[in-house]
Amino acid sequence: MLLIDLVAGARPNFMKIAPIIQAIEARQREGGILRYRLVHTGQHYDRSMSDSFFEQLGLPAPDANLEAGSGTQAEQAAAIMVRYERLLLNAPSDLCVVVGDVTSTMACAIVAQKLGIPVAHVEGGIRSGDWSMPEEINRLVTDAITNWFFTTSDAANAHLRRAGVDAERIFFVGNTMVDTLLTNRPRFLAPGVWAEHGLVAGQFLLLTLHRPSNVDDPAILRAYLETISSAARGRPVVFPVHPRTAKTLASLAPLPNGIVVIEPQPYLEFNYLVERAQAVITDSGGVTEEATVMGIPCMTLRDTTERPETVELGTNELLGSDPSRIPPMLDLLFDGRWKVGSIPPLWDGKTGERIIAVLERQLTLGRK
Ligand code: UD1
Repeated sequence: MLLIDLVAGARPNFMKIAPIIQAIEARQREGGILRYRLVHTGQHYDRSMSDSFFEQLGLPAPDANLEAGSGTQAEQAAAIMVRYERLLLNAPSDLCVVVGDVTSTMACAIVAQKLGIPVAHVEGGIRSGDWSMPEEINRLVTDAITNWFFTTSDAANAHLRRAGVDAERIFFVGNTMVDTLLTNRPRFLAPGVWAEHGLVAGQFLLLTLHRPSNVDDPAILRAYLETISSAARGRPVVFPVHPRTAKTLASLAPLPNGIVVIEPQPYLEFNYLVERAQAVITDSGGVTEEATVMGIPCMTLRDTTERPETVELGTNELLGSDPSRIPPMLDLLFDGRWKVGSIPPLWDGKTGERIIAVLERQLTLGRK
């Protein structure tokens, strides 16, 4: 048997790990050789940011919880590294699988590789080109020391090849986040706000914001909210608020008309809203993928994206960080002229299985 660590630390990691666990367990029932250890770094620790995802996605309790908690980028990375190193020194694994681009991804990749444990990166190779985003630094560092890359897009494959990565180390497998979305779509649940505000499918907007550049400065956040409220033609704007955003939002009361603030939503409730929104306005990367798969118009309030396929093939448009770009795009939406998207290649719900098939092969080869 071979032991692989699956590292999850922050909200967007949990849905990326779930299909990998399901695929390992399915192979175990057929006599597969992989065992896993689920390592939760504790970067996100609230019920709303972590526990609810474990429950709804049927994730097992973590085998190790590093309880690293909040802090600056360096404090978080350091706490995760010290604790993960201790775990590996006590009980080494044969492979470290990291997903996405959060601080936990980078921190655990560094620790494992320094102890001679190979690293696989799920969602490797994507790039925004924007070094002011902590996630971009996490991607660059992680990919510099990754052995096997599991990629979601041709753009990711191209970045890796340009960086000199051998083709044999790049596995274009699709998107595990989409596996989770397709598995759970029949189970989406109406959140409380649905009945409380009498929301109607196709007649409200959904807003999420958590990037430091959008939410840490109250004037910037206020400008977004005022612009969206005044261009929304009276439609409610449902705004599940990330803890980082909540800190700034508290100083902005009273909020402009029509902005309906709610807690961060569990997975099934959040995607119930996405599936029924007239459009999603967001600065998240994962949400642009989910909107693309469900064919929901999406506006991204960032200057760059590491997921260009959501714009080139999907329903997403990159609006940049100037709020004045929002009203004309909302007019386009309300006039029924939003582009129709298509689903990127291999975003088909089978990515977890592909990853495990590759890992079984690679790890067995490594032993010969
Ligand atoms: C992190 C990830 C980002 C991801 C996002 C999703 C990095 C660099 N960034 O950003 O890629 O899109 O998570 O949520 O890893 N907090 C809580 N409860 C929690 C977690 C955080 O209250 O369970 C608070 C923290 O104390 C902190 C703020 O939220 O003040 C931000 O959390 P942090 O993990 O530092 O980064 P995010 O902005 O969430």
